[in-house]
Amino acid sequence: MQQVLCNARIATMDGAGYGLVENGAVVLDAGRIAWVGADLPEAYTDLPRQDLQGRLVTPGLIDCHTHIVHGGNRAAEFEMRLKGASYAEVAQAGGGIVSTMAATRAADQDALIASALPRLDSLIAEGACVVEVKSGYGLDLETELTMLRAARALRRLRPVRIITSFLGAHAVPKDFGAGPDAYIDEVCIPALRAAHDEGLVDAVDGFCEGIAFDPGQIARVFDVARDLGLPVKLHAEQLSHLGGARMAARYAALSADHLEYADEADARAMAEAGTVAVLLPGAFYTLREPQAPPVEAFRAAGTRIALATDCNPGSSPLTSLLLAMNMGCTLFGLTPEEALRGVTAHAAAALGLTDCGRIAAGLRADLCVWDVMHPEELAYRIGFNPLHQRYFGGVS
Ligand code: NIG
Ligand code: FE
Repeated sequence: MQQVLCNARIATMDGAGYGLVENGAVVLDAGRIAWVGADLPEAYTDLPRQDLQGRLVTPGLIDCHTHIVHGGNRAAEFEMRLKGASYAEVAQAGGGIVSTMAATRAADQDALIASALPRLDSLIAEGACVVEVKSGYGLDLETELTMLRAARALRRLRPVRIITSFLGAHAVPKDFGAGPDAYIDEVCIPALRAAHDEGLVDAVDGFCEGIAFDPGQIARVFDVARDLGLPVKLHAEQLSHLGGARMAARYAALSADHLEYADEADARAMAEAGTVAVLLPGAFYTLREPQAPPVEAFRAAGTRIALATDCNPGSSPLTSLLLAMNMGCTLFGLTPEEALRGVTAHAAAALGLTDCGRIAAGLRADLCVWDVMHPEELAYRIGFNPLHQRYFGGVS
């Protein structure tokens, strides 16, 4: 079906700045954007029109890093950390990722779907049209597959695009009985192959950190990803500098994420490789990290910056991309324009997607209509949702 959205201020996020079109129109045709601009061509003037009354239109938002599929929650751990325990101390005491593992293994696929849906709905209510979902709380072959199946099932239940990342290299389960090297060889890589055989994997992720895996161990997983033709991404330099970001760049990773402890050389290596810096202010805030990611170095190197919720039960129980944008500005010094690009054009790049994240002819008609005048207002407010309407593949 063809229709015209008219009388809009459009932040296309295509080209420099917001790519603003004043008094503009977008033509939708069979789920795609057929045309965008200020002077509607003759050919489209007879189509059905929707008058947006001067509202702002942006690309549909993209949350490029989440763990929304998981069992249980870690509110008790939140309290421990408030009393002074660090994220690493909580993990060493048997909390952290492995405690969510136990809750995730105890849930079946339907329970995982049921608990993920309210989190997904919260993201959709603020205009998310694409949500990346990671495995990584199963940490055995069967449960990693169950998590990915649950994530893929969300596509059938809500109008949203789900991109799945295999995160078998997230932590070593306490009950595994051997160290990280054996876990990578005996669990992670076989689970990756099985998940890929079932068509469940869009990208391969890992957690490169002292409390998880070192760059050499992650590289073994990335070598398998390369053999399978899968793109990679990495949780890197979150709590310390281990060289994960540069290693990810060597594999031409789609993204390196967190990056609080990344340096200028990392920023340059990532820029050269086209690896997007995905910043996760929800985790930085929740863990009360002392060091912010090197935004100035990313700007200087030309590294593309994205923002995501990192929605997970431990370090970032955040289900608001608008709040992630606000935190990206307040905590990391991003401009509101960088924040919006970070949840649209650059978030698409972090997922290797080229058909969304901008408003341009030929791309998917994933759009948000906001009850605001200027795009800066999206990052400026705290805890307020001005979404008026959301189009997913041209359908509102
Ligand atoms: O992205 N950094 C590792 N993984 C998650 C945290 C997972 C958890 O604590 O459950 C993250 O922050
Ligand atoms: Fe994460």
